[in-house]
Amino acid sequence: MKIDQLAETAEAMVAPGKGIIAIDESTGTIARRLAAVGVENSEENRRTYRELLLTTPGLNEYISGAILYDETIRQSTRAGRPFVDVMREAGILPGIKVDTGAKDLAGFPGEKVTEGLDGLRERLAAYAGMGARFAKWRAVITIGETMPTDTCIEANAHALARYAALCQEQGIVPMVEPEVLMDGDHDIETCYGVTEVTLRAVFKALYEHHVLLEGAILKASMVLPGKDCPEQVDVEDVAHATLRCLESAVPAILPGIVFLSGGQSDADATRHLDAINRIGGAPWPLSFSYGRGMQQAALQLWGQDMAGNYEKAQQTVYARARDNGLASQGRYGD
Ligand code: 13P
Repeated sequence: MKIDQLAETAEAMVAPGKGIIAIDESTGTIARRLAAVGVENSEENRRTYRELLLTTPGLNEYISGAILYDETIRQSTRAGRPFVDVMREAGILPGIKVDTGAKDLAGFPGEKVTEGLDGLRERLAAYAGMGARFAKWRAVITIGETMPTDTCIEANAHALARYAALCQEQGIVPMVEPEVLMDGDHDIETCYGVTEVTLRAVFKALYEHHVLLEGAILKASMVLPGKDCPEQVDVEDVAHATLRCLESAVPAILPGIVFLSGGQSDADATRHLDAINRIGGAPWPLSFSYGRGMQQAALQLWGQDMAGNYEKAQQTVYARARDNGLASQGRYGD
């Protein structure tokens, strides 16, 4: 029974033509995003901005779910309606970020391990009570001269598996996110190798921890050259490398895969997703769970004139949702 519910939620998250909007920036991360557009990081500004995003007219045409942060899942619209109720009414599934951040991995300079397992069972039960249907945990894998180490990959895979098992125990779909960072000058082949090894370790750990893959979603990074790599590649190369890597390492029984945008430009995030879906033949729906890739244009506009550009910013969010929704079906730009 429980697995049926989990599978149903997971399938709804990747319903045809729909994806996820990630608005789960921690208070520290949103502080940086707001500062970049000259907006004060007050609780009211954070609430107003999240209301702008969640109440974008027509958002549910292309968005199946939104990942919230602890503060946001407890907040309401200016008119006093809980965000979770507004989302439910629109048919947008509430998700929640449950890790407490990537911290330095002791003994391994430059590498991170994600924390947040202590007390997680109780926190998940509380979030389920608030209406959360899925939860995200982000692990960070950094590519460098001698990185990632096996120890870093194992530590993160183990934490992801323990979090995922706890989610399913509470009837919440885990959105398992091992992000291979774009930072660095590595080439696309290196990213391919690191992503493949990481995904294999993650799925091995999920299996060992009795996580039911039918009720889980993978949030993956695309296979790309590092930001500072002199050899950039074209859209088709990214699409083929990404699909091949996923096909090599991700079980076909998984209900879906969503990508993070990871610092790509809006145009790249959309074009890459579109090109991946144009190849066709993948055993899972391949959609998006973009944070910056959904928000950065809207945030820029809103920062220029919070009251005056409110609706224009919402129109921009809608346009990004539509473009990415079309790209999730390989129909962007047709
Ligand atoms: P970006 O799309 O901005 O990478 O964020 C997605 C996300 O939720 C990262 O955890």
